[in-house]
Amino acid sequence: MIDKQPIVRFTDVSVTFGFFEALKHVDLSFYRGEILAVVGDNGAGKSTLLKVLAGLYQPDSAGGIEHNGIPCTINGIQDSRALGIASVFQDQEFCDNLDVTANLFLGHEKRDDFRRLDVHTMEDEARRVLAQVSSPIGLRKPISTLTKGQSQMLSIARTLLDDPEMILLDEPTASLSVMQTAEVLSYIKKLRSNGKSIVFICNTLPDVFAISDRIVVLRHGRINGMHQTHDTSYEQIIAEIAGVDNAAGVLSTLHNGRKGVDNTGAGTLPTQRFDDQKRLIDRQDSPATESTYMQKGGTIKDADNAM
Ligand SMILES: Nc1ncnc2c1ncn2[C@@H]1O[C@H](COP(=O)(O)OP(=O)(O)OP(=O)(O)O)[C@@H](O)[C@H]1O
Ligand SMILES: [Mg+2]
Repeated sequence: MIDKQPIVRFTDVSVTFGFFEALKHVDLSFYRGEILAVVGDNGAGKSTLLKVLAGLYQPDSAGGIEHNGIPCTINGIQDSRALGIASVFQDQEFCDNLDVTANLFLGHEKRDDFRRLDVHTMEDEARRVLAQVSSPIGLRKPISTLTKGQSQMLSIARTLLDDPEMILLDEPTASLSVMQTAEVLSYIKKLRSNGKSIVFICNTLPDVFAISDRIVVLRHGRINGMHQTHDTSYEQIIAEIAGVDNAAGVLSTLHNGRKGVDNTGAGTLPTQRFDDQKRLIDRQDSPATESTYMQKGGTIKDADNAM
């Protein structure tokens, strides 16, 4: 259920690097219980938008940011955390030689009164956050044994330690397999059902259409389209990403075999891929994960994955 009062509202937000405007006059609101997908071509300003929310970039002076209706500035990660905004940027680093719990608390370890590591408290907390993304990962498993999907989930779970209201995800499914993607998308849906606001950069349109509530299209730093997901189509979104009135030309180029360039899903049977992705995510919504799915019918065995 989407709240009418936004958690965060951008008004006329622009970001300039030297003479280059990476974001131009962006008006955008972010709501609780909503998955907002941000799409756009390379260099469209998607990561810049997220970095403004995360406090890594500041808008030019004309722009304003409100949090729960109150004007604010976000001058760094500490500020965004204090506002309940957590971010997962691409290529999060983990320590391969440490287990799941140790990686979740890396740099924020809990200690008892004698400054010893408080493993019990950390494991209790780890269980709590992993339950929010419904993952049956063993807490003491070495991180090196996790699948890519599980590692991505762990990056997301790590943000939940601060109990944020809003979670920013920069291409969380990039470079994941179909099953891993379905697993991560199901975690994201679970976060929405826990009332979080999710801002999710993704250029794989089947993934965007499978889980988002709203889609914003950026082009050359401007908002070139904003839609409720159920009110729009692949063709419309592709046209807005490409900056054309009609996506037919773009689609036919994709259909004509620019293999490896099309990550929109539009070049290859969009409806079919959308339905397939939805089916996979629905299957992931039952407690099954990539690993349990593989145990049931697949080829990869990961039998000791469950807690
Ligand atoms: N720190 C920076 N200094 C100078 N230019 C920057 C900086 N960060 C981003 N840009 C430029 O701003 C534009 C938008 O970058 P941004 O990273 O937001 O794009 P994006 O939509 O996330 O693209 P991609 O899909 O490639 O990740 C790009 O032209 C980029 O080169
Ligand atoms: Mg980016």
